[in-house]
Amino acid sequence: MALNLDECYDHVMGLVDEAGKIIAARNYGEKSVVEKSSNIDLLTETDQQVERLLMDGITAKYPDHKFIGEEETSAGKQAVLENAPTWIIDPVDGTMNFVHSFPHSCISIALLVNKVAEIAIIHNPVLNQTFTARRGKGAFMNGKQIRVSGETRLEHALATTEFGTSRDEEKTAVVLENIGKLIRVIHGMRSLGSAALNIAMVALGGADFNYEFGIHAWDIAAGDLLVREAGGVCLDPTGGPLDLMSRRFLCASTQELADKVIPLLTQYYPQPRD
Ligand code: IPD
Ligand code: CA
Repeated sequence: MALNLDECYDHVMGLVDEAGKIIAARNYGEKSVVEKSSNIDLLTETDQQVERLLMDGITAKYPDHKFIGEEETSAGKQAVLENAPTWIIDPVDGTMNFVHSFPHSCISIALLVNKVAEIAIIHNPVLNQTFTARRGKGAFMNGKQIRVSGETRLEHALATTEFGTSRDEEKTAVVLENIGKLIRVIHGMRSLGSAALNIAMVALGGADFNYEFGIHAWDIAAGDLLVREAGGVCLDPTGGPLDLMSRRFLCASTQELADKVIPLLTQYYPQPRD
């Protein structure tokens, strides 16, 4: 029987709402924190609890569905994107923000069927911003339709990017080189501390492009559909097709703007891939 995507959406929205209340209630409190891949790649018990809540709640209704979740993957499970309905989940995107009570963290979740994104939800429960998209049905913030800015001029573009969660010297040099090149020509650069919320700003029309090397599938899967449904483009930073597992991402309000950003980017190929 064909999967009823309306039902999937409603079901997961209920879970995201419940999980968001846990994040919001704890945002301004003390957290116990452990380090993952580096001392700026953090994990709290909330990350694990929210991922469990979402996965258990989805499995209860859809026992055959698959998952690629940040915390399961960090704990050693191999991330494999199959044709079966697969939920790609970042339970808390912006964990560093959450640890510091900086109110920009979100749940980022996407459903892919046959490797095609059908549902995207990016929910910041602290500031009550909920970005949603369904394939072919547009992008929304808190129920109101959103569109990309349509900006084509590099000199007028506002960008979002991040410094990332790695201390690797070579990676850090590329990050700083790209920021250095871009800030000399564009209007400005912002870092919200959450890859998914940075991408959502492009969908909203608040920023004109976003790029990052080193992100994971769970940081970008929802943002990819959201931006495309808002009228923007999502690409590999060389201009080729986006590969969700490549840990490389570029999106822009227009292809014309993306074409102007691409030649300025020093490329980086994070290893291992997802
Ligand atoms: C990270 C954040 C950060 C970005 C990293 C992500 P996390 O996700 O989005 O802003 O620079 O690439 O991995 O660890 O907070 O879920
Ligand atoms: Ca996370």
